[in-house]
Amino acid sequence: MTTITYVEAHGQAVTVDVADGWSLMQGAVANGVEGILGECGGSCACATCHCYVDEARIGELPPPANNELDMLEDAAAPRRSNSRLACQVKVHSAMAGLIVHLPDRQQ
Ligand code: FES
Repeated sequence: MTTITYVEAHGQAVTVDVADGWSLMQGAVANGVEGILGECGGSCACATCHCYVDEARIGELPPPANNELDMLEDAAAPRRSNSRLACQVKVHSAMAGLIVHLPDRQQ
């Protein structure tokens, strides 16, 4: 398990333990975090799991694949340099304490 903090759009921080190997999206949905819908179930086809990874640590993550970059073009909230699709980021122990901010809309 790895501790991840999700900061909901209205500012509430929710810290949860996410199973290693799960995605950031799965960790949010399983714990009732508001702001990640994950409508396609993690197949990189809906962009309703858009999130902003802590800028100080975005470089620690593997870069997005082309299909993720394409889907981010369709995200409802503004895309930023630290935008990711939460379903495409797998959690592992080195990510402990990562902070993920959620946008104010996903559709
Ligand atoms: S859950 Fe659909 S793109 Fe991530």
